Amino acid sequence: MKTSSHPRIRLLLALVVGLIAPVLLAADSASRERLLMDFGWRFHLGNEWGIGQNLAKSGTGMGPASVTFCDASWRQVNLPHDWAIELPFDAKADVAHGCRAVGEGFQQNSIAWYRRTFELPAADSGRRLWLEFDGAFRDYTVFVNGWFVGHQESGYSGVRYDITDVANCGGKNVVSVRVDASHFEGWFYEGAGIYRHVWLVTTAPLAIAPDGVFVFNQFKDNLPEGPAEIHLQTKLANAQNVPADAIVTWEISGPDGKRLAKASRTGHVGAAATCDVEQTTMIPAPELWSPETPKLYRLVTTVASGGQTVDRVETEFGIRTVGFDANRGFLLNGKPYQLNGTCNHQDHAGVGAALPDRLQYFRIAKLKEIGANAYRTSHNSPTPELLEACDHLGMLVMDENRLLGSDAQHLKWFEEQILRDRNHASVAIWSLANEEFTTQSNPDGGRVASTMQALAKRLDPTRPVTYNAPLGNEFTGINGVIEVRGWSYHIGKDNMDAYHAAHPGQPNVGSEQGSTVGTRGIYADDKERGYVSAYDDHGQSWSNTAEEWVGFFDTRPWLSGGFVWTGFDYRGEPTPYAWPCINSHFGILDTCGFPKDNFWYYKSWWTATPVLHLLPHWNWAGREGQEIDVRALSNCEQVELFLNGRSLGRQTLKRTETLKWKVPYAPGALSAKGFTGGQLVAETKVETTGAPAALQLVPDRSAIDANGEDISVITVAVADSQGRVVPVAGNAVSFELEGPGRIIGVGNGDPSCHEADVFVANVPIRTVPVDGWRWKKVTDTYAKNLPETGMSFDDSEWTKADVDAESGPLGAREQGVFRTRFSVSEHDLASPAVELFFGKIEGDGKVFVNGQLVGAAGDAHAASSYDIRAFLRAGENTVAVTVANYGTAAGVNKGVCLRLPEAPAPVAWRRSVFNGLAQIIVQGSKESGTLKLTAASAGLQPATVLIETKPAPSRPALP
Ligand code: GAL
Repeated sequence: MKTSSHPRIRLLLALVVGLIAPVLLAADSASRERLLMDFGWRFHLGNEWGIGQNLAKSGTGMGPASVTFCDASWRQVNLPHDWAIELPFDAKADVAHGCRAVGEGFQQNSIAWYRRTFELPAADSGRRLWLEFDGAFRDYTVFVNGWFVGHQESGYSGVRYDITDVANCGGKNVVSVRVDASHFEGWFYEGAGIYRHVWLVTTAPLAIAPDGVFVFNQFKDNLPEGPAEIHLQTKLANAQNVPADAIVTWEISGPDGKRLAKASRTGHVGAAATCDVEQTTMIPAPELWSPETPKLYRLVTTVASGGQTVDRVETEFGIRTVGFDANRGFLLNGKPYQLNGTCNHQDHAGVGAALPDRLQYFRIAKLKEIGANAYRTSHNSPTPELLEACDHLGMLVMDENRLLGSDAQHLKWFEEQILRDRNHASVAIWSLANEEFTTQSNPDGGRVASTMQALAKRLDPTRPVTYNAPLGNEFTGINGVIEVRGWSYHIGKDNMDAYHAAHPGQPNVGSEQGSTVGTRGIYADDKERGYVSAYDDHGQSWSNTAEEWVGFFDTRPWLSGGFVWTGFDYRGEPTPYAWPCINSHFGILDTCGFPKDNFWYYKSWWTATPVLHLLPHWNWAGREGQEIDVRALSNCEQVELFLNGRSLGRQTLKRTETLKWKVPYAPGALSAKGFTGGQLVAETKVETTGAPAALQLVPDRSAIDANGEDISVITVAVADSQGRVVPVAGNAVSFELEGPGRIIGVGNGDPSCHEADVFVANVPIRTVPVDGWRWKKVTDTYAKNLPETGMSFDDSEWTKADVDAESGPLGAREQGVFRTRFSVSEHDLASPAVELFFGKIEGDGKVFVNGQLVGAAGDAHAASSYDIRAFLRAGENTVAVTVANYGTAAGVNKGVCLRLPEAPAPVAWRRSVFNGLAQIIVQGSKESGTLKLTAASAGLQPATVLIETKPAPSRPALP
C-alpha cells in the first residue's frame, strides 16, 4: 500500500483500514534524538539481590530491578565508570589483570548494580525508544521499569534494546543494570562496570535502522585518481503495522563545509519490516583522507514520508583507498605506506577502562608525536570515540574482534562491530582475532576464519582482513585462508622470508611486534621493586627489542610495517615479573603517556624530523668516576657526545641502530650534537639536577569546555631550584581542587605502585531503628482496602512481632499483617530521601505507609527498601506490611530501619611522583568558571594551576 502525502486523505485512508494511530504518529513525529545518559547514575557494589528477577513471571524485576526500590544511599556516579580501579590491590588477585581485588576469588567485589531514574515526556509516546550501551564489563542484565530487556555477556560489544513498549512516556522510568565482572575475557586489565557511554535514542516509528547508514567510496583499480564514486546505503526500519513509502535524501558536504552532492531515492518498506535504499553519486575532485591529511566529509541522510521529514542522521566519512600488495606491502591511496603502528588496550592512569572522550584524543595525539600512524585495538572492539579521535587526528586503525568464532553469537558480535565502525575513515583493516593458539593451525580454525572473513567482505567490500598469527612458516588453518598474513613476532629469515617465498601472492603485515620491556627512568633491572631497565637490551623469549624488529622490517617493505606491543603501558601483564609489580612494561609510553626512552628510538625511524636523545639521566651521585652506559637514540648521520663541554668523540650511526659510549661519571652536563650531511641538525643535553625544591603543574589544556565531560590532563613534576625535573624524585604530593569540577584520577606510571588511583566519597548514612512491631493473621491480604493497612487502625491487641528474627512467624499457607509506628522530625524530612529498609520481607506482600501503598514486598531472600519521604509527615507515622506465605515460612525479618543519606565529606587526593612525574586528571562540570588546582608536598614549594572552564554547548543529554 502506498500512503498518500495529503494529510486529510491519509486520515481517511487510515480510518478506512482501521489503522489510524500508526499513520498519524508517523506524520506527527519529530526526527531523531540521541541523548547521552552518562549523568546521575546510582551505583552499589555487592550481590545482595541475586539475579534481580523472578524467572517465572515477566515485568517482575526485584530488588534494584524494581521501580520502587530506593537507591538514595547508593553512591552517585557519572559514566564512564570503572569500579575495578577503586578496589585495593591484593597479592591473591589475578596478576595478569593487575591484582585488583576483583574477578575470580573476589565475589563480593565483582557484582554491582547501577540505576538511573528519569522522566520521559508524554510526547514520546508513539515514538521508538532505544537504550544503547556502548560497552560494559561484563555480563550485564538490563531492566527497564522492572522489565527484563536484555542480557549482554560480552564486555566489549555494545548492545541496543528497543524499550518502546516498556517505557513510561509522561512519567518516571528506571533503568537498572546488574553487572557481573566475576569472570575475565582477556589476560590483561579489563575494568569493571559501565565504562563506555549509554544513550537513549528516540525516533519516529519509520526511521533509519540502527547503524543503518553506510557510505563508502570506490575508484577504478582502487587507485584514487579522478572523481570518487560514492556509494550510499540506507536501511529503513518501519515499526508501523502498515507499509510506507519513504524518500531518502543524501547530501554530502566537503571538509570545508560546502555542499558537494545531493541524491535521493524512494524506498518502499513493508509493515514491521526493513528495506535497503541505495544510490551512488560522484565527488569530482576528492580531498583524500590520510593520517597526514585527516580530511573528513559529512553525509546527511534524511528520510521523508507522508510529506514530513521523519529522520535525519549525520555521518562523518573519509575518501581514501586501502589495500595490500604482496610485494609492495600496505597501500594507502594507491601508494605503499609503511604502517608505524602500536597495539593498545583501553586503559589509562587514574581512570582505568573508563576513558572520557577527550582522553582518547590525548592518547592518539601522544602516539602521533612518536610518528605512529596506525593503531591496533587489541584485542577487542573499541570504544566508538577512540575511532572518532583517529578519524579526526589521523590514525589508521586495525579494528580487532575479540574472539574467533562462527557460531551465531560470535558472528553477531563481529557483524555489529563492522556495522558500527565501517563508516570511519580511520578504520583500515579488520582483524578477526588474536593468537588463537588452540585452533589456529587446524582445519576447523581455518573454516571458522573463512566464514568470518566472508562476513566481513559481505558487510564491507572495501577493507582487507587479517588475523594476528603467532606462528612461523606455517600455512595451515587460518594462515591458509586469511587475506593478509598477520605476524605476531616470529622474526627471522626462516620464518618470514621463507614464508613469503613459499606464498608469494599473500600480503603480510607485522600485526604484533616488539614486546620489549622497560620502566620509565630506570636503568638497571630490579626484580624486587619490579622495574626493568629502559636500555631495551633484551626482549622476552618470544619477543624482540625495538632495534631488532625495526631493523628487520626496514629492509622488507613487503611486510607492510608493524604494530608495536604496546604504545602505552597498561595494568596487568607485568612481564617479566609478578606481584608486587602490577602493570605492564611493554609501552613506548607509560600508563600516563610519559615517554620512555624508546619513544625517541621509534620517533627516529618513524618521522623525518631530526631526533637526538641521550640516556640515561645524569643524576648518579655516589658513582663518580664509574663508567656509565650512555646511548644516543637518533636518526642523524653522526653524533658527537660531550661531557661538561669536553668531546667524547663523534660516531657514525647505521640506519635503525643506536650509538653507545662508556662515560666515567662526573656531575654536570652530558650533551650531544647531531649532524646530517655535515650540518648540525639536532642538539640535546641531560644535566645533573639539584635536590627536589618545587612542584610544577603543567596542564595539557588550560581552557576546557564546561560540558561536564571535558578534562585537562595535568603533569605534576618535582623540580630542582632551577626548574629542572628531578629524574629520581619520588615525593608524595597532595592535591586540592576548587571551582566547578572534580578530580577523576591520579597516576604516575610506576608499574609497582600500590597507591590509589581514585579517592571515593561514600555516602554517610544515619540509621534509625523502626521497632515495636505487632502482627496478626488475616484471611486475605489481597482484599481491597484492607482496614489493617490503614493509618490509624488499632493494633494494640496484636501479637508482638520479632522482626529481627531470621524468618517467620507465618506458617504454611498463612497470611498476615505487620504494623508499627515511628516518628520522623522536620530535620529527617529535609534529607534528600528517607529510606525504609527491611532486611527481608519473606512471602508475597505489600508495604503501606500512612495507609498508602508504597510498593510490593520485593525479593524474598534479600533486603527491600523504599523511598517513603513523600508519604511522611513530621511526627508519628504508620507502616503496615501484608504478607502471604506460599513457602515454608514468611514474615518481616532481619530488622527494619530508616536510612537517611547525608552529604559525602570531601576526599583528599594524593599521589607520589615516580622518577619526577605524576599525572592528575581534572574534569569540569557544566558550570563555567575557574578551576584552581593546588599541589603540595612536604619541603617543596607548592604549585597552583588555573583551568578555565568555558561556556560550551553540551551535547544533548538526558536530564
Ligand atoms: C602477545 C599477546 C598480547 C600480549 C603480548 C605480551 O602474545 O598477543 O596480548 O600478551 O603477547 O608480550
